[in-house]
Amino acid sequence: MAAWKTYQQQVANQMENLLEDVVNTFPQHNSQLLSAMRYGLLNGGKRIRPFLVFAIGEMLQVARPNLEMCAIAVECIHSYSLIHDDLPAMDDDDLRRGKPTSHLVYGEATAILAGDTLQTLAFEVLANYPAPATSERIKLVSLLAKSSGYLGMCGGQALDLAATDTAISLQQLHQIHELKTGRLIHACVAMPCVFATLSEAQHSALSDFAHALGLAFQVKDDILDITSDTATLGKPQGSDQQANKSTFPNLLGLQGTQNYLNELHTKALNALNTLPWNTDLLQAFSDYVIQREH
Ligand code: IPE
Ligand code: IPE
Ligand code: MG
Ligand code: MG
Ligand code: MG
Repeated sequence: MAAWKTYQQQVANQMENLLEDVVNTFPQHNSQLLSAMRYGLLNGGKRIRPFLVFAIGEMLQVARPNLEMCAIAVECIHSYSLIHDDLPAMDDDDLRRGKPTSHLVYGEATAILAGDTLQTLAFEVLANYPAPATSERIKLVSLLAKSSGYLGMCGGQALDLAATDTAISLQQLHQIHELKTGRLIHACVAMPCVFATLSEAQHSALSDFAHALGLAFQVKDDILDITSDTATLGKPQGSDQQANKSTFPNLLGLQGTQNYLNELHTKALNALNTLPWNTDLLQAFSDYVIQREH
């Protein structure tokens, strides 16, 4: 198995244990809500955001517990975003990670609350996780809050919903993808950087890398909605078309979108090339983002 694949598998296994440990600290007095939180967190995501946190953090020699803290927090936010994204009032989808969506299993109210509690759990982890970080925690809270709130994921989700059944410009679509998906992926790179001393040029190269990769991830998601199948995706193929979403294939066509994806891939690799560290893992990951099948 390729080195990066082995690494990804290790991260995924480790995240399962770390997330399990976090939810296991909660008492059982509200078993329905707790069960919905577990369902959202522990149901087999690819864990690509934690992968980025660990790959970047280890490259910068950041202490492991600090990275665990960031990876758990980001994955809590991501899992919450998926539960809410699938709700009837949003994308109204019935399958996620190969299983019925949260609101179908637990009802809408519990699904909404499970999302809410996972969101607050992310910040609780950043405040309390046993890690050497002390002064850095406020910066991490700020980064994660910004990338997931009005200026990030939630803002993007609102624009995404507003752009449904509506023709928008390429520039507007860029903004949506960048906010709803790109910002959280950018945070996965920016959070480990809080613990490192980097030059201006290194900061900006890592930021360019994260920016290109974050956008590429959602552009590829748009492509897969058309070209893949429900069993492979673990979520309903054709969901975007059925809901008449604004996507890159809608605006650029499939080939145009593929060309754009290749451009983003090149941008990500060019940014990595300027860095003084071994970036093999991150290069392989960039290839994966544009070649992935789910
Ligand atoms: C899905 O994210 C939502 C998008 C931002 C495109 P992932 O593809 O990372 O979902 P999981 O966590 O692996 O299920
Ligand atoms: C969602 O984008 C991005 C999030 C912030 C959750 P999509 O709506 O395209 O994600 P999927 O395809 O349902 O995973
Ligand atoms: Mg959506
Ligand atoms: Mg969706
Ligand atoms: Mg999608």
